Amino acid sequence: MEGSDMSSKPRQYPAINPSFPNMLHGGDYNPDQWIRTPEIWDEDMRLMNLAHCNTMSVGIFSWAMLEPEEGCYEFGWLDTIMDKLAAEGARAVLATPSGAWPAWLSKKYPEVMRIESNRHRNLHGGRHNHCFTSPVYREKTQKINRLLAERYKDHPALLVWHISNEYGGECHCDLCQNAFRDWLRKRYNHDIDALNLAWWTGFWSHRFNSFDQIESPAPHGEHSVHGHNLDWRRFVTAQTTDFMKQEMIPLRELTPNIPITTNMMGTYPGLDYWKMAPELDVISWDNYPSWHRDDRKTWQLASDIAFVHDINRCLKGGKPFMLMESTPSHVNWQPVNKLKRPGMHRLSSLQAVAHGADTVQYFQWRKSRGASEKFHGAVVDHVGHEHTRVFRDVTEVGLDLEKLSPVIGTTVRPDAAVIYDWENRWAIDDAQALRNGRGEKKYEEVCKQHYQAFWEQGIPVDVIDSECDFSGYKLVVAPMLYMLKPGVAERLTAFVEAGGTLVTTFFTGYVDQSDLCFLGGFPGPLKKVTGIWSEEIDSLYDTDTNGVRFSVDNELGLAGAWMAHTYCEIIHAEGARVAASYTTDFYADQPVLTVNDYGKGQAWHLAAMTEYGFLQAFYGKLAEKLTLLHSLDTELPEGVSAQLRTDGSTRFVFLMNYSEEEKTVAIPEKATDLLTGTECFGTVGLEPYGVVVLKI
Ligand code: GLA
Ligand code: ZN
Repeated sequence: MEGSDMSSKPRQYPAINPSFPNMLHGGDYNPDQWIRTPEIWDEDMRLMNLAHCNTMSVGIFSWAMLEPEEGCYEFGWLDTIMDKLAAEGARAVLATPSGAWPAWLSKKYPEVMRIESNRHRNLHGGRHNHCFTSPVYREKTQKINRLLAERYKDHPALLVWHISNEYGGECHCDLCQNAFRDWLRKRYNHDIDALNLAWWTGFWSHRFNSFDQIESPAPHGEHSVHGHNLDWRRFVTAQTTDFMKQEMIPLRELTPNIPITTNMMGTYPGLDYWKMAPELDVISWDNYPSWHRDDRKTWQLASDIAFVHDINRCLKGGKPFMLMESTPSHVNWQPVNKLKRPGMHRLSSLQAVAHGADTVQYFQWRKSRGASEKFHGAVVDHVGHEHTRVFRDVTEVGLDLEKLSPVIGTTVRPDAAVIYDWENRWAIDDAQALRNGRGEKKYEEVCKQHYQAFWEQGIPVDVIDSECDFSGYKLVVAPMLYMLKPGVAERLTAFVEAGGTLVTTFFTGYVDQSDLCFLGGFPGPLKKVTGIWSEEIDSLYDTDTNGVRFSVDNELGLAGAWMAHTYCEIIHAEGARVAASYTTDFYADQPVLTVNDYGKGQAWHLAAMTEYGFLQAFYGKLAEKLTLLHSLDTELPEGVSAQLRTDGSTRFVFLMNYSEEEKTVAIPEKATDLLTGTECFGTVGLEPYGVVVLKI
């Protein structure tokens, strides 16, 4: 799997499509909704130039317009749009239309409509709801994809393929049941007893005699066998990936030089994107944070979004990604659809670039007149002209992106990595343990908290899967790595042995890839490297707390008193040194932070969830000790982030102020602000939501 073996990874990548070496700026464009008013198409071209947009994503939901009746095709309107884009010197991100399909198709071939886990077939309508196994749907999508590729393969506007739209969900029809059984047969080598062991089917008399007896999980059927649930999720990823690959066949054949992407959805739980990424040429994702919330500071949310941007950069080992969708102003589906305050559009757009995006794209170019997305933010409002606040904001970003073209293809090679693992998340969410209930397990939250302690210090971080290569890092943080897939413990151990520093936490090393508990004490195969045994884990109510007291002379020189909450693991040092202990309850004075020397490296274990200040102090000292790469050698005020992109010689440092106050940052070296052309030395001022891109 693509990970981060620094030595063999390029420092700089070519542009996404080298024939168009520009930062891409544009958005989802639905000219087919305006087919009765082609004068609007000309107006779109005028506005596109005015907004400094150079790329439009077309055809995403166009199947009914491209094939109004089975076998009758109408490409004329798309020809016109592609020609118009080319005439303006712009490019198209051309979609395959499988995200939604025409009514005639459902009528004639009902098998394309998905069956939900309750075993009811959906009616025609909506989108993103096809059966991913149906041979008919596969045949029909391949056919239309082939026609698109044949028609536009030499078109000067064709830049990138956008496969389908936000793949997601699952189908439980008979075709999918059979495919699931076949997938299981392969996984377990046709050995039903191997499956019985992996799924621990001795429980509740769940033993199977043959693969034919197996069904997908259902709310009114089987849903309490965790190995079964896990394998179903793995199958859904595999089958979705397989569907995506079949969509690609004609594109790979006819347009081998056009890069292919599909738009992902951040930490969407339904698909393990690490399994899809190797099939794609470039990663892209859709980012819709709710800025200006009442319950979180702007910079805290910014750190959470940074975490997801970093996943997207890491999915192809550091290769620049595409911000395929974002809103120019607000969405229409959040509980509160707040407008982006002045400056936020620019800041949030450049944040993506700071973390490795070579594009800023939107949903949507023009507001539709009808249906459910008519009040979703867009570059062009219903008013129809360019004299709007949002249009001016978008234009400003367009101008910035033109100035940022030296950044294209650059990346970052961090010293630190945080593991965020989808399969681990599935297993944790499914576990009947800890604190049950939606969002209570807190896996993602804990990963983001640990990440934030680096983000805040301006330390670049990779966010990786547990199957990635660890060897290029100085520090690997593995929060709540409950599930250890085959080889992971061995590789983490080898990483420490060779001089790396590992940080593990509570709820680490409990189960194997089938969710079967390790026998002989937790953290299972990590017991040796961590030098601890975790005997019990205490889940606390929100009103309960414990405390963390550092040992005198602890080797990081940590001091102060911190609160522990939510989860407190009761551990024994078995070779590790105790750096901090609990202060209260029946496990007072038992270790909460330990460190174990192993080979040339060290393994730290943090047994409790703590208040954030503890993580700040701990990772501050650890970063100092390990001399981790910083984006800039400076102190960052609260709310300011520094992110680095480099080709190995020139450095681009994005300083971003995610606070509502002015901030000043000391600049230790001579630098130029790429956005204004001004020389910066000494200090630089950042207005609220301000951005400076230093070229050093
Ligand atoms: C998703 C979809 C788009 C659009 C936006 C609205 O990301 O891909 O088609 O519906 O949401 O925010
Ligand atoms: Zn199906």
